[in-house]
Amino acid sequence: MAQNSDNLDSIPSFEAPPGGQLTNDMVAAFEASGVIKVENFVALEDCGRLRKRAHELVEAFNPETVRSVFSTTKQTQLNDEYFYDSGDKIRFFFEDNAFDDAGHLRQSKHESLNKIGHAMHDLDPVFDAFSRTQTLAATVESLGYADPGIIQSMYIFKPPGIGGEVTCHQDSTFIYTEPQTCIGFWFALEDATLENGCMQFIPGAHKMPLKKRNYKRPDGTYVIETIDNTPWPLERLVPADAKAGALVIFDGRAPHLSAANRSDKSRHAYTLHVIDKQSHYPADNWLQRSAHLPLRGFE
Ligand code: FE2
Repeated sequence: MAQNSDNLDSIPSFEAPPGGQLTNDMVAAFEASGVIKVENFVALEDCGRLRKRAHELVEAFNPETVRSVFSTTKQTQLNDEYFYDSGDKIRFFFEDNAFDDAGHLRQSKHESLNKIGHAMHDLDPVFDAFSRTQTLAATVESLGYADPGIIQSMYIFKPPGIGGEVTCHQDSTFIYTEPQTCIGFWFALEDATLENGCMQFIPGAHKMPLKKRNYKRPDGTYVIETIDNTPWPLERLVPADAKAGALVIFDGRAPHLSAANRSDKSRHAYTLHVIDKQSHYPADNWLQRSAHLPLRGFE
């Protein structure tokens, strides 16, 4: 049962509704907090199927072909074409600390990756099937999205020992539309706890303006421009700890972060970002898709 939707001291948490359609209480809590947790949204066997498929993709990936590192603290992905060209591909991004000074992986490749992105939902049949269930389509529709498009997917590893910190941000910084319609669907494929670096949110802070925007300048370089310098009220952070199978739904303007994973347990998760296809998607957004892979919803 949910907490009072005016209570911003915790993340409203619900049991998965039959068929996926959110109740009025759930939608009201989402609008008040900018984030809700839906327990047992995905069957554990489906979580396992996605983890197995990610393992197969990594098994087939040769780390010598790429050394792309993803870090939000150092922003080393800036000007990294391997990253910026990945909107319609399946690509692999390492953790900051994956390599030693000699350039060798410290751990196995399976325990060295930050994420896979950003179009598995369109290019891989197993990810496609997980992403386009009637249940999730009903959830998205109940949030008022009549013409949704799944703009990106990410498989996040948060590996033990080296899984890096993600600093406080809003996803609409990176997935910007006019008006702002980005919404995040984060599936726990393994238990996420404070110890292994679960997400943390500031409930209600999605009503603050968008603070930064990532875009491509006319000269071809990328920038994360600060629009509003007001500090986040980080004293109001609440952990979004989640059992495997839970879904965390969050507004594109909901500020969130996660600490480094210093535990010995991985924290695999899968995320989808959905936009309203009727909104304007600027041509200078970093995330672009070629014409051969048009933006699709849940059809
Ligand atoms: Fe995020």
